Amino acid sequence: MIFIANWKMKMGLSATLELTRTLTRQLRQLPDGTEVVVCPSYLNLTSVFPLLKGSRLQLGAQDCFWEAQGAFTGEISPRDLQEQGCRFVILGHSERRLHLNETDEQIHRKVEAALASSLVPVLCIGENYEQRAGNQKDNVLIRQMQVALQGVALGADDRMIIAYEPVWAISTGGVGIEATPQEVQYAGEVIRHIVIDLFGKATLDQKVQIIYGGSVHSGNVRAFTSLPVISGVLVGGASLKADEFIQVIAAASGGGNQQ
Ligand code: PGA
Repeated sequence: MIFIANWKMKMGLSATLELTRTLTRQLRQLPDGTEVVVCPSYLNLTSVFPLLKGSRLQLGAQDCFWEAQGAFTGEISPRDLQEQGCRFVILGHSERRLHLNETDEQIHRKVEAALASSLVPVLCIGENYEQRAGNQKDNVLIRQMQVALQGVALGADDRMIIAYEPVWAISTGGVGIEATPQEVQYAGEVIRHIVIDLFGKATLDQKVQIIYGGSVHSGNVRAFTSLPVISGVLVGGASLKADEFIQVIAAASGGGNQQ
């Protein structure tokens, strides 16, 4: 099970470092097979990385550019992220699609670039409220994945995570309703079939994980992580408080406190 904390643009340096220190202290003994990834802002990555040494936490970025190097003022290269200690990179988050007009084609190039720099892409897909109301959910998932992943090859050491994040269920920007486990299982199955179409069943089994994100908290996480198709969660708001995020991890496996 993988737990990815998306800290968005919500914390400055001191809050980020304090939260990181608390998490590394309190998550020393994670069960085998449990991975925890924290994704601070770009600027805070290099300050967070040294704190993770010797801990069970791994580092992720919230985005990257689609080239490794060049005249791209203001952009951040996946190669830089890898050199600064990142193993994961969130790509195609709905907030970037909405506020920065990111397209599926751009996200495709980012996925390729991330893999070329040995990063694990965490590809976010999901329909918005209108698309859901118009029964377009499956079409949206198919289109987003086909464009983002067409022609992508996963090498021997590559790995990829697909995060189903229905836009309407995200705590900020959503419409205040939570996804039901049935809806998430259904979407997860659709995603699973698209992955099989694109990469084959063996690649799905060995290299691709499907996770859920959207208002996940300690009270609902188990309902999602117990779904057969889901192997982790992408957590925004509930990852900003150490106690709550630790509870999310504990509750996901139905266990008690992880400390
Ligand atoms: P949320 O954010 O958990 O606050 O809904 C999830 C996300 O946007 O990745």
